[in-house]
Amino acid sequence: MNDTAGAPSFPAAPLACDRQTPSWVEVDLAAVRRNLHSVRDFLARAGEGQSVLEPAPASASPRGGLPAGPASPLLEASPPRVLAVVKANAYGHGAIPVARVLAEEGVAGLAVASVVEGAQLREAGLSLPMLVLAAGDASIAGESVRLGLIQTVCSKEMLGALAEASQRLGRPARVHLKIDSGLGRLGIRPDEVAHFAAHLRQRRGLWVEGAFTHLATADDADPAYAQLQHAEFSRALQGLAGAGFHSLFRHMANSAATLRFPRMHLDAVRPGLLVYGIRPDAPGLPALDLQPALTWKTRVAFVRLLPGGHSVSYSRTYVADRERRCAVLPVGYADGYPRRSSNRAQVLARGAMCPVIGTVCMDHVMIDLTPAGDVAAGEEVVLLGAQGQARITANDIAAWAETVVHEVPTVIGNRVARCYTGGDRAGSGSARGEDPDETRPFSRRHPARPH
Ligand SMILES: Cc1ncc(COP(=O)(O)O)c(C=O)c1O
Repeated sequence: MNDTAGAPSFPAAPLACDRQTPSWVEVDLAAVRRNLHSVRDFLARAGEGQSVLEPAPASASPRGGLPAGPASPLLEASPPRVLAVVKANAYGHGAIPVARVLAEEGVAGLAVASVVEGAQLREAGLSLPMLVLAAGDASIAGESVRLGLIQTVCSKEMLGALAEASQRLGRPARVHLKIDSGLGRLGIRPDEVAHFAAHLRQRRGLWVEGAFTHLATADDADPAYAQLQHAEFSRALQGLAGAGFHSLFRHMANSAATLRFPRMHLDAVRPGLLVYGIRPDAPGLPALDLQPALTWKTRVAFVRLLPGGHSVSYSRTYVADRERRCAVLPVGYADGYPRRSSNRAQVLARGAMCPVIGTVCMDHVMIDLTPAGDVAAGEEVVLLGAQGQARITANDIAAWAETVVHEVPTVIGNRVARCYTGGDRAGSGSARGEDPDETRPFSRRHPARPH
């Protein structure tokens, strides 16, 4: 059993499992591996990922100024590849252990939210390519270049800061251009691409390696807007090619789009949810063998008989209709258990679904034990995950809390210990694919073009 002890303290790491916290999370890293294999199998079956946007002609330019990375078997693999999203502490699963497993499995790269998140992984010894998804302000440019991260860029200020840092540190600034194909968040609009490309060309030291976009409605029943964004991204890529940026590494598909839109697989997909074994909340998804990696457990702190007519918790939102056997659980919204799920959520005790009664408190949740029977204080209950034949999914909790499924594991707090199983690759002597050189390009088929 591993833990995250020894991880840098910033951002504050969750407590290690041996700390006896009132509730804890068990992460099955073998499930993460299996989910990744399922995604890869799906990509291989889908097959047509390269057909939509015409593959760009390979650039004749050498990777000037960049040290050649050691040959990696990954580089020979057929696209599309997996750029696994491990931002926000790997959606609460623990960025370092999850990233280690993904690196061993040879993902093309990892996506983090910030330079701080990238630094945490670099300090843990992870050297594979890492894309910083957020644009950040120019003050983070130096650290991004120093750490060999791949920076998302959509502003001239950031371009300038990266170029300056590159000159100062004597190493290239790796860059993926963010295209706003319709999300209306970060990015250069397709009609701004030519103008932006002119600025790119003036900057020395930038390694403009990729371009990507992000979908606004990947999980909507109606695919029309996602398809429109695909067309807009295509337009931006054509604009970039017209300005001399032919060989960009292209990616746009999150988990839902990976499953729904094979045409959007391009050079890589960027799944988060699927890696963690969570099905996106989207209609009509194809079957995929997924195993939820995270189980959240606690122990009953107190059992009591509540007389009929007695209310439970703040604001008296629940009143017992008759005498009821109830349990108090030592977990609450301070741990990330959603207050909004008050009187809606269920918890598994002895394999039975027990309703949450009353308002979820900062440190306590109350459940009705009627379906479970004679549960005693100290017994283990499951807030998220399986017990016996029953399972509570992140999607269930998201529905009870009226939120997106991403939020459910991600907000599980740092006072909840993380315990890990399945970290070792069964029967593996050597790990495939962790590349000691973070300057490795994503693809030999599309050699990067230095600028
Ligand atoms: C830019 C970007 N790409 C990919 C993802 C992964 O999304 P999902 O977890 O739905 O696969 C996210 C998640 O928020 C994201 O922000």
